[in-house]
Amino acid sequence: MGPLYLSLCVIFMCLGGDCIIKAAEIPFNENYIPIWGDDHISILDRGTQVQIRIDPLSGGGFRSRHAYGSGYFRMSIKVPKNSKGIATTFYLTSVPDNGRGVTNHDELDFELLGQNGPPYILNTNVFAQDTGNREQQFNLWFDPTLAFHDYEILWNQKQIVLFIDKVPIRVFKNNEKVGARYPKLPMYLHASLWNGTQWLGPVDWKSGPFFANYGGFKIHGCPYKNYHPTKCDSPNYTWNAHKNWQLDAEQQKVYESIKNKHMMYDYCKSKFANNFPECRIGGS
Ligand SMILES: *[C@@H]1O[C@H](CO)[C@@H](O)[C@H](O)[C@H]1NC(C)=O
Ligand SMILES: *[C@@H]1O[C@H](CO)[C@@H](O)[C@H](O)[C@H]1NC(C)=O
Repeated sequence: MGPLYLSLCVIFMCLGGDCIIKAAEIPFNENYIPIWGDDHISILDRGTQVQIRIDPLSGGGFRSRHAYGSGYFRMSIKVPKNSKGIATTFYLTSVPDNGRGVTNHDELDFELLGQNGPPYILNTNVFAQDTGNREQQFNLWFDPTLAFHDYEILWNQKQIVLFIDKVPIRVFKNNEKVGARYPKLPMYLHASLWNGTQWLGPVDWKSGPFFANYGGFKIHGCPYKNYHPTKCDSPNYTWNAHKNWQLDAEQQKVYESIKNKHMMYDYCKSKFANNFPECRIGGS
């Protein structure tokens, strides 16, 4: 099956109803390619899982073959144990080669910060044709090193929602009407395991090598290739449908509770808040 057939398949299956398809898992190679540290990336279990290894020589990273203009993007991830100083990531970015030297771009980040024990911390960020700095951090209510959890990004023209195991933890609304920026460039899915010493403190390499596991390689997105940008806003895609323009009442309740109990840092409550119009209307 080539990528074109796959894309059509996804569109067809998503028309009208929910995209809950329990089809066979899509092998890694269909949708993704390694982009650095290839010899530190192992494809396991007929392509249903990928393991990235980090040791003093290298970490590794992979990305989707195509860029997308909207969608639901999910990855199952198990974070390495005892990995203080190492970052395990899943993100969307408009820069396919990892953004070296590119400052103004679009990006939506999950960054799981390596720890030797609880609390485990998740950093999130939003870039909108700029350099980001819209961070929110959470202490996780589970141990991400023990099992796979689902990290998911909904991105449509009205809102961006980050979910963990279907629980909304972050909402970034399209507030362009008050002058806020909003991500709209086509983006690639990326995942990586890297030496975060500069940010997170030193790594104890003697307890390595460290392994992160990834699975869930199906993509529900509007492939940008061959498409006029506005096609990706089509209500024909479930993720763009009216019901996905905001959280429903039940989701809103869970979201408020997560924010109250687990949010440790919010850029809208920082000294930088004035730089962001969305913060002036009560946060994003
Ligand atoms: C990890 O990053 C730190 C800070 O950039 C650097 O000094 C160190 O050499 C790196 N370690 C390895 C093994 O790459
Ligand atoms: C959405 O679906 C309808 C009905 O199948 C079709 O007529 C229309 O062209 C589609 N719109 C877009 C933007 O794809």
